[in-house]
Amino acid sequence: MDRKASTPKPATVYLKDYQPPAWQIEAVELEFDLDPQATRVRSRLQFRRAPETGPDTPLHLDGEALELLGIALDGEPLTADRYRLDEAGLEVRGLPETGVLEIETRINPSANTELSGLYTSSGNFCTQCEAEGFRRITFYPDRPDVMARFTTTLRADKVATPVLLSNGNPIASGELEDGRHYVTWQDPFPKPCYLFALVAGDLGWIRDRFVTRSGREVDLYIYVQKHNLDKCDHAMASLKHAMRWDEEVYGREYDLDRYMIVAVDDFNMGAMENKGLNVFNSRYVLARPDTATDADYQNIESVIGHEYFHNWSGNRVTCRDWFQLSLKEGFTVFRDQEFSSDMNSRGVQRIGDVNILRTHQFREDAGPMAHPVKPDHYVAIDNFYTVTVYNKGAEVVRMLHTLLGTEGFRRGCDLYFERHDGQAVTTDDFVNAMEAATGVSLQQFRRWYDQAGTPELELERHYDPQARTCALTLRQHCPPTPGQSDKQPFHIPVAMGLCDREGRALPLRLYGEAAAGGESRVLELCREEETFVFQDIPAEPVPVLLRGFSAPVKLALDYTDAELALLSAHERDPFCRWEAGQTLARRLLLTHPPQALDADTARPLIEAARRTLADTALDPALRALALTLPAEGYLAEFVDPIEPEQLHTARQALRLTLSRALRPDLEACYEQLTETGAYSPDAASAGRRRLRNLCLSYLIACEDDSAYQLALRQYEQAGNMTDSLAALQALVNSDCPQREAVLEDFYSRWQQDTLVVDKWLSLQATADRADTLERVQALTGHPAFSLTNPNKVYALLRAFAQGNPVGFHQASGAGYRFIGEQIRTLDGRNPQVASRLAAAFTDWRRYNPTRQAGMRTELEKMRDAGGVSRDLYEIAARSLG
Ligand code: ARG
Ligand code: ZN
Repeated sequence: MDRKASTPKPATVYLKDYQPPAWQIEAVELEFDLDPQATRVRSRLQFRRAPETGPDTPLHLDGEALELLGIALDGEPLTADRYRLDEAGLEVRGLPETGVLEIETRINPSANTELSGLYTSSGNFCTQCEAEGFRRITFYPDRPDVMARFTTTLRADKVATPVLLSNGNPIASGELEDGRHYVTWQDPFPKPCYLFALVAGDLGWIRDRFVTRSGREVDLYIYVQKHNLDKCDHAMASLKHAMRWDEEVYGREYDLDRYMIVAVDDFNMGAMENKGLNVFNSRYVLARPDTATDADYQNIESVIGHEYFHNWSGNRVTCRDWFQLSLKEGFTVFRDQEFSSDMNSRGVQRIGDVNILRTHQFREDAGPMAHPVKPDHYVAIDNFYTVTVYNKGAEVVRMLHTLLGTEGFRRGCDLYFERHDGQAVTTDDFVNAMEAATGVSLQQFRRWYDQAGTPELELERHYDPQARTCALTLRQHCPPTPGQSDKQPFHIPVAMGLCDREGRALPLRLYGEAAAGGESRVLELCREEETFVFQDIPAEPVPVLLRGFSAPVKLALDYTDAELALLSAHERDPFCRWEAGQTLARRLLLTHPPQALDADTARPLIEAARRTLADTALDPALRALALTLPAEGYLAEFVDPIEPEQLHTARQALRLTLSRALRPDLEACYEQLTETGAYSPDAASAGRRRLRNLCLSYLIACEDDSAYQLALRQYEQAGNMTDSLAALQALVNSDCPQREAVLEDFYSRWQQDTLVVDKWLSLQATADRADTLERVQALTGHPAFSLTNPNKVYALLRAFAQGNPVGFHQASGAGYRFIGEQIRTLDGRNPQVASRLAAAFTDWRRYNPTRQAGMRTELEKMRDAGGVSRDLYEIAARSLG
């Protein structure tokens, strides 16, 4: 089937075509008569023509899947010749400079399977408007540079829908006839419509209070389905921590009388920062020690923080257009990463964040979907909520922080918020504020926003014993990406130090400087190649580069194994120390066939691991990270073509070697870390569980009865979900005879808890077993699974496609065919979820010819399907190139 013959090719939107809005909306009054199948929406738009706009310019209102019931101007019905309706929306002609447009529409929330706009989840009403969902609620200029004051009245049945919420503060409420009631909400802050929200239903809540540092009292609410009321405390504590942290670190206070968070089970993404009324995927709110893992607790804190921080970085100052998405997302991710660092362990947080960046973002940046932090074109903007816009965007802000220093950066932020409060602006405005506040030129730095691709750094070192100098030559190069063949050099901050052969830091004096300036400093690499000469160096040093991973680059170093061992034992920067050990392990894995990864070959790694296991002075979480072998997804970055089976076999072989060689050490460490007392999610306790469970996973690699018994005992006795799930995971990936029985036990125990069932699905989808594909296929028919719930799709299908490379990429191509078919089915219901799942295919060129052919066939079927969504079309078409 040729789609081009049937459907027109979806249009591309370009940054260069940006035009300021011709009309502004000053105020909106919305009235909702809520009904699951037929909700009526009345809107009163107070419009004003922009000064530069000609009098004949029509007003364009976006609209999608709406039934228009009526339209009036200043109280008079509009005649049909004054407006035109098509699939994209409504165009109104002959408007006065200012006036009021009244529009009535009807929508069907229960039929909204895309979960964009107004929809129902577990019988409750909720909305998701970012990026372009508001146009599915009513006709409106759905673009972030149109900012209006919203007043919203909700009417519904009092018994079925007792809770009626929208943005801002409640200003009126009361009873209506026929058992209905209403509440009116007013949001005093002008906002783009993507920040609009309403929630209505039969919900329970917990309430708390926060007093801002200027004395404003804020009521805090978390709304959930009533059976979840006992799982909200951690989210509430996290919210209060976030509010305090933003005051202390950024001087930013909350600005409304209430802050509300609602948890829903059906949600495409993680959460949404709607003004005063955040809507969350329930997985980022609900936690109880027996149902949520340490990682869940951690993610909740970070996402609650993220959405709260958006109140300033996103809401008070928003984006001019969607190309500027990283203005709010990159900045806000940086803010949430720093918040998590301050609440927990900075080193552990940084290593985790770098892992995400290097495994996922570097991959995206090297493939057909590569795009700049500020993209310059898109078909479906929802495809650009990416690791590049979010996580690389956060790295760009982090580099600004590094280059300007904590104080300079803070002055820049203050100026940015002061200059642009209430405005919709660009990433350039952000950088301008940083420059204006500090006097530092960021001219060249701006390239980080416009050029895609991961720069590659090379180091050449030269020690001169006579002159006692050490010369470091850094060279940068950025490979081409789609549409960008030639790259200009980046402005790269390289945090570094030098140490001697005992691992002691050396004072750093650059050529021409009068005195040494500390033991760690930031070199700024701006040209393609630059040499930095350090003085007074008594003997050949070991350079340590990219402390804290100071720039999102690939760094090739010519370290000897001995140097890596030295750094992995002595380097003071947790990231560089961890990185040295990982590099040692990676070298082993990539240069030896699996059968050669025996105790002799792995001796240095085994000895380092033995010391780490016994080093009780070191943070257990850092010990666990050091003992974790590089992930298959990260190893894949270093090979061509990717042979998933080979990477997996090598990693498993090395695990087994370590497990055998270190058995008594692993057992001792495991026993030592046994805890009784009540569960606490704090970083220290979580770190101990992490290390202990890592020991368990190594021990079970031996596949013998005593290891099985250990895991079974842990499963039975666990006092929290972290330990219970870790034991289950160890068993599921083993040949333990009881594995099926334990899986069944877990399901029967937790089948009522949808988030725990997600974990159960994921464990099976990622299981290291020959029959995993058949198992996943069978599970799509299990009552626990549903194609209409995004979390279920992610837990089963995405976990398989992206978390089980061996299963998904099996040589028969059966994994591709299965997931491809699921994607095409899903696309008819929920294009955003379908297109996120399709990400598993974008890297098809990285595999061998047989796999390429299998993946390409699926991408072509997606691209050419009749009625394919814009979202899925864009992913498939771009991937095929
Ligand atoms: N702004 C939200 C967040 O990062 C993400 C919403 C994205 N939604 C979407 N459909 N693209 O916090
Ligand atoms: Zn965000």
